[in-house]
Amino acid sequence: MTDPTRTGSAEWRLMRRGDLDAVLRIADLVHPALPEPPEVFANRLALWPAGTLVLEDGAGIAGYAIGHPIRFPEPPALGAVMDRLAPDADAFYVHDVAIVPEMRGRSLAGAALGQLLASASGLRRACLVSVYGTAAFWSRFGFEDAGHLVRPEKLHSFGEGARFMVSQLTPHEALSDGVSAVKLP
Ligand SMILES: CC(C)(COP(=O)(O)OP(=O)(O)OC[C@H]1O[C@@H](n2cnc3c(N)ncnc32)[C@H](O)[C@@H]1OP(=O)(O)O)[C@@H](O)C(=O)NCCC(=O)NCCS
Repeated sequence: MTDPTRTGSAEWRLMRRGDLDAVLRIADLVHPALPEPPEVFANRLALWPAGTLVLEDGAGIAGYAIGHPIRFPEPPALGAVMDRLAPDADAFYVHDVAIVPEMRGRSLAGAALGQLLASASGLRRACLVSVYGTAAFWSRFGFEDAGHLVRPEKLHSFGEGARFMVSQLTPHEALSDGVSAVKLP
């Protein structure tokens, strides 16, 4: 899927239902070994729309980023469709950031992370499951290994090498209004 038209600027914006086909194509491309059912993407868009973003450039959708509140430390299993968000959610979970190969290396993931965290009004920590050896990458954004806080079986669906990581959010990050802040249900 290398696309020579993918040059110039790209911006993160809120995902719409009409973006889902493009998002699924990127998920298939980027995560062949960790597939998730299509319903998962629509599910997160419905449950926490402020935490579903797409990266748009002149050629179309070039990436997506998804996150939502959870009760800590209980990351949903990979591929799990959620009935609802936990009413006592107390942490922001970065479900996935995926960017097509030709758009990587431009600090676009950090921009997405900032927007995702801005949707987490009032939450004081963020967490994620690092795969593909991305722990060092996530540590650039303040995430630290917190494997001791989560039961090992919680990570099985993410494959070998998955690592649970946590970042304490500063009040600035927690209250930033880069994306319209949404109160917890
Ligand atoms: C991880 C990802 C979102 C980063 O996006 P990005 O916009 O390219 O990130 P940045 O430009 O801020 O940073 C790129 C840096 O991250 C590093 N990086 C990216 N993936 C990495 C990995 N799997 N392991 C180690 N380092 C990695 C790059 O080597 C690069 O390092 P450099 O700055 O020293 O050159 C993107 O590489 C991607 O979509 N990867 C596939 C999906 C994925 O791994 N998602 C995260 C799952 S937890």
